[in-house]
Amino acid sequence: MNQDIARILITEEELQNRIAELAKTVSADYEGTVPVFVGVLKGVVHFFTDFVTKTPLPCEYDFLAVSSYGRGTVSSGVINMQKDLSSSIEGRHVVILEDILDTGHTLKFVKEHLLSKKPASLKICTLLDKPERRQADITADYVGFTIPNEFVVGYGLDYREIYRNLPYIGILKPEVYQK
Ligand code: IMP
Ligand code: MG
Repeated sequence: MNQDIARILITEEELQNRIAELAKTVSADYEGTVPVFVGVLKGVVHFFTDFVTKTPLPCEYDFLAVSSYGRGTVSSGVINMQKDLSSSIEGRHVVILEDILDTGHTLKFVKEHLLSKKPASLKICTLLDKPERRQADITADYVGFTIPNEFVVGYGLDYREIYRNLPYIGILKPEVYQK
């Protein structure tokens, strides 16, 4: 896998340090509440576990799964809900955790879907943000890293379901997806 990476964009250490800062900020904002952290599967799994274990608040977990990409590197813009939440979030303080905010179609869909369930509040925390690529009208409340317009993999992020288990975020060699 490593030979398919052009360069490492964010190291394991940088990820852990920044996630600790994010967890501290979010913990301060939600002090005295029991938030529900909603992870968007599957890309968020590494970020989700590292984030919640650095968050010293009582909290609940829930997950949903959506698909937008098909098998390429460009979002189709058509979002399918593959798995919905398993519990009610009505009246709860909800924070959506996501791996990457790219065109924004996915998070806009997820946000509207969760708002229809009447949470007390709803915020978005994304590990990565590629603002240059935005098409949908959406911004995150908490951002780990703002990154350039490059296709990245690792730490949960995939290309055709592979590379999720790299411990860092790397830029995939274009020849890998131009094959
Ligand atoms: P959006 O709907 O375009 O904002 O895309 C969000 C989803 O696309 C993310 O949850 C990822 O699964 C995927 N995605 C977007 N950019 C990348 C990337 O650079 N590498 C891997 N997956 C990506
Ligand atoms: Mg993906």
